[in-house]
Amino acid sequence: MNNAVRRPRRLRQTPGIRGLVRETRLSPDSLVLPLFVREGSGVREPIQSMPGQIRYSPDTLGEGVAGAVAAGVKSFLLFGIPEDGRKDAIGSAAWAEDGVVQTAVKTIRPDFPDAVIVTDVCLCEYTSHGHCGVVEDGSAGRAGHKGHVHNDRTLELLARTAVSHIRAGADMVAPSDMMDGRVAAIRAALDAEGFTDAAIMSYAVKYASFFYGPFREAAGSAPGFGDRRGYQMDWHNRREAAKEAALDLEEGADILIVKPALSCLDIVSDVKAMSDCPVAAYSVSGEYAMIRAAAAQGLVDEYGVMCESAAGAFRAGADILLTYFAGELAEAMRKGDIG
Ligand code: PBG
Repeated sequence: MNNAVRRPRRLRQTPGIRGLVRETRLSPDSLVLPLFVREGSGVREPIQSMPGQIRYSPDTLGEGVAGAVAAGVKSFLLFGIPEDGRKDAIGSAAWAEDGVVQTAVKTIRPDFPDAVIVTDVCLCEYTSHGHCGVVEDGSAGRAGHKGHVHNDRTLELLARTAVSHIRAGADMVAPSDMMDGRVAAIRAALDAEGFTDAAIMSYAVKYASFFYGPFREAAGSAPGFGDRRGYQMDWHNRREAAKEAALDLEEGADILIVKPALSCLDIVSDVKAMSDCPVAAYSVSGEYAMIRAAAAQGLVDEYGVMCESAAGAFRAGADILLTYFAGELAEAMRKGDIG
C-alpha cells in the first residue's frame, strides 16, 4: 500500500489541527470534587494518606467549596465523619438531624445556592464495626452468618439517611454501600417524603478494591474485622458489572457510578454502552495518592499524569468524573492543557 495515501500524522502536525480533531472534550462542568467533613468546628486537618486533601468541619467546609468553585468546579460529594463516641452498631448518627453531613449541608447551602451538593450514603463511617450495614448477630437463626452484613435490615437505615440528607438541602444522594435493593428503597422513601425531584447517583459498580486504602484512613471507616468482599464486587468480574448496573437502572438510579476508575475503564465503557443514563467514573483515593506519591518522588510528571488519567476516563465513556484533583483539573481545562 502506498504509504503516502493515509498518514495519520498529518492531523498531529500543529496544535490547531490537534485541537480540531480531538475526540474527547472535557469541561469543568463534568467534574465532582469529594470533600470530607467531620464533626466539630474550626477544623482544617490535612489528610496524611491523601496529601493536599483537607478534613473540614461544617463551619469551615465552605472554604473548600469556595476554592474549588473559584477554579470552576460546580459539583461536590460530601463524606461525613462523626465523632468516635457517636458510632454505634447500626450507625444511627448517619441519619441524625444534627448529624455531620446534615449540619454541613444546611451550613453551606445558603452560601452556594448553585452548587450541586451530592452526599455519600453509607453506614461504614458511622458504625462501630466499620461495615457498610447492620452486622448479623446470629439472632435471626442464621448463626452461620454471624458477622455477615444483613442486606435487608440495612435498607431502611440507608433510606432514612438519604431522606435526611435531602431534607437538609442536598440535591442528590450517592449510595455507596452496595446492598442489593437499596436504590429502590431509597427512591421509595424519597418519593414518600415528596422529594420526587431528588436524584440518585448510585455506586452501581463498586469493586472491593485495594485502591480505597487512603480513603479509609481519611474517613476512619476501615472495617474492624473481615473485609467488604461480601457486598462489594470481585474485581475479576466483568459481566457481573452489567448485571449490577442493570439492576440499579431498573430500581430508579439516575446516574451510574463505576468505581475505581483507572483499573476499570473496560467497565466504564461497558456501562456506557448498555445504559441510557449518565455514567460517572470515580477516580478513588488510591489513584490520587499514587499520583501524588510518585510525583513527590520525582518519578512522574504529576500534572501530566493527572490530565492523562482524567482524559482516559472520559475517553472510556464517562460523562462525569469524581476526582480529588477536580480543582486542579478545572484549572488545567481553563488553561487549555487538557480538553
Ligand atoms: C463508603 C465509601 C468508600 C469510598 C467511597 N464511599 C470506602 C469503602 O467502600 O471502603 C472510597 C472512596 C475513595 O477511595 O476515594 N462505603
